[in-house]
Amino acid sequence: MNILLTGGAGYIGSHTYLALAEAGYTPVIVDNFSNSHRGVLQRLQAITERPVLCEEGDVLDTAWVEGVLRKRRIGGVVHLAGDKAVGESVAKPLKYYRNNIGGAVSLLEAMQAAGCEVMVFSSSATVYGDPASVPIAEHFPRSHTNPYGHTKLVIEDMLAALNTAQPSWKIAVLRYFNPVGAHASGLIGEDPSGIPNNLMPFIAQVALGKRAHLQVFGNDYATPDGTGVRDFIHVSDLAEGHVAGLKALLERGESLTVNLGTGRGHSVLEVVKAFEAASGRPVAYQFAPRRPGDIAQCYADPSLAEQLLGWRASRPLDQMCADSWRWQSKNPDGYR
Ligand code: NAD
Ligand code: UD1
Repeated sequence: MNILLTGGAGYIGSHTYLALAEAGYTPVIVDNFSNSHRGVLQRLQAITERPVLCEEGDVLDTAWVEGVLRKRRIGGVVHLAGDKAVGESVAKPLKYYRNNIGGAVSLLEAMQAAGCEVMVFSSSATVYGDPASVPIAEHFPRSHTNPYGHTKLVIEDMLAALNTAQPSWKIAVLRYFNPVGAHASGLIGEDPSGIPNNLMPFIAQVALGKRAHLQVFGNDYATPDGTGVRDFIHVSDLAEGHVAGLKALLERGESLTVNLGTGRGHSVLEVVKAFEAASGRPVAYQFAPRRPGDIAQCYADPSLAEQLLGWRASRPLDQMCADSWRWQSKNPDGYR
């Protein structure tokens, strides 16, 4: 079956491409390369030893997307295209509302016109805001603290409204926790432009010698070592979660919303230590004030995903670090 993979040239998309191909689907990438490199396509081809199907264009172009859906006889859509930088969303909110919400509306209209009603959507643990307790289950109240998080929340609500109006739609909302790591080949991985915002890519660049030291944002949280705790999940586990979500929709036909996390929290300092062990390089760090908007701890209750999808994450933190290091050390300048 042909599956449209929007944002398929990006970090999570490229790994999801491989998981879909591995499971016997034929992914067709739609990407405008606004935050990715065409070089990823050759890498995907090298790993799969098959030509990569990619349509370059924008999900905001409804008529064009409808044409792609028809031409490629698409049986389901995995929607990852969007903007994701929290800080940028605060500075440029309209960019986020247009691209993320506008992109989702446009894609759903194109799907409706082409008669395709199966969608897997990339939501985020950010929809839980600052949770009252951990682990976080799907029924926890949702909130948002920045425009990026707001777009995820609005899209979730929009999908629910569409499903109420038209129960024939099958929609899987996947709430990702903190995706890290890279494909075991070392050929694809996360390639942030400029200074990385997120922890693991920053640590990798310190280990590589590109940056002098990590700033650890806050060491006075109510956590075992005082630093923030997150549910880091290997991006290949996350990618396999998309395949499980898609299969559940196609085989059982019921819409669903699940967390994709490991159920285990690791602190910033634990990640630093694990990365040092995996890379054999020192990772210098300094304590710095808390980053505005950060929460103390965030990790998933992943039991509903296991129950509904038969999926659970299996790759431990040392493998996340080893794979991240393999990618970073083999490709110090990413895809450039
Ligand atoms: P990414 O930036 O690497 O990938 C997104 C891809 O979408 C890029 O290749 C970009 O060029 C493309 N794109 C953006 N706008 C587009 C448009 N209008 N038309 C066509 N293509 C477009 O990001 P990622 O980390 O792979 O994230 C993928 C999705 O998962 C995003 O929706 C993000 O919000 C969500 N998510 C990511 C994380 C994370 O930690 N990386 C966590 C939770 C949710
Ligand atoms: C952030 C976003 C979240 C998004 C996720 C994945 C914020 C507030 N949240 O989550 O919406 O879904 O990325 O893209 O931006 N840290 C440091 N030093 C650094 C970087 C991070 O100490 O240089 C710490 C943070 O304070 C946090 C932990 O590492 O405790 C993880 O940070 P990060 O990787 O940015 O992810 P989140 O903040 O969980």
